[in-house]
Amino acid sequence: MKIQIINGPNLNLLGIRETGIYGEVNFDSFLEKLKKEFPDVEISYFQSNIEGEIIDKLHQTGFLVDGIILNAAAYTHTSVAIGDAVKAIKTPVIEVHISNIFSREDFRHISFISPNCRGSIAGFGLQSYRLALLSFLEGAF
Ligand code: DQA
Repeated sequence: MKIQIINGPNLNLLGIRETGIYGEVNFDSFLEKLKKEFPDVEISYFQSNIEGEIIDKLHQTGFLVDGIILNAAAYTHTSVAIGDAVKAIKTPVIEVHISNIFSREDFRHISFISPNCRGSIAGFGLQSYRLALLSFLEGAF
């Protein structure tokens, strides 16, 4: 199984950025553990702070891989274009968030991504990505 993880803006600073909300673990070390835990899954990772690059990656991988795990970060709440890209591709997308966006500011309660996703997982820290991966593996679709 091939899984693509796509992270949006500022998630390159995980482990440093607002650690009270996002934790002290950087994404690379989390990813290393995830790959070790699921050696049979081909997990690819892409992070960008640029909206168009995230859309390009969705287009590139969205007809090739078995599942996409997308944390569009702040673009979740603003980007009609990323929402449309998720709708345009064939691969199922699971939206993830590290924090519980529904217990935070009102503007974070809106997602332009979720209507076009198979499902959304928020609030479980980096485990949100792991839970998304498990749901692909268990064929929840
Ligand atoms: C986030 C939540 C977003 O509201 C925020 O802009 C982020 C990260 C999360 O993973 O909790 O950058 O997507």
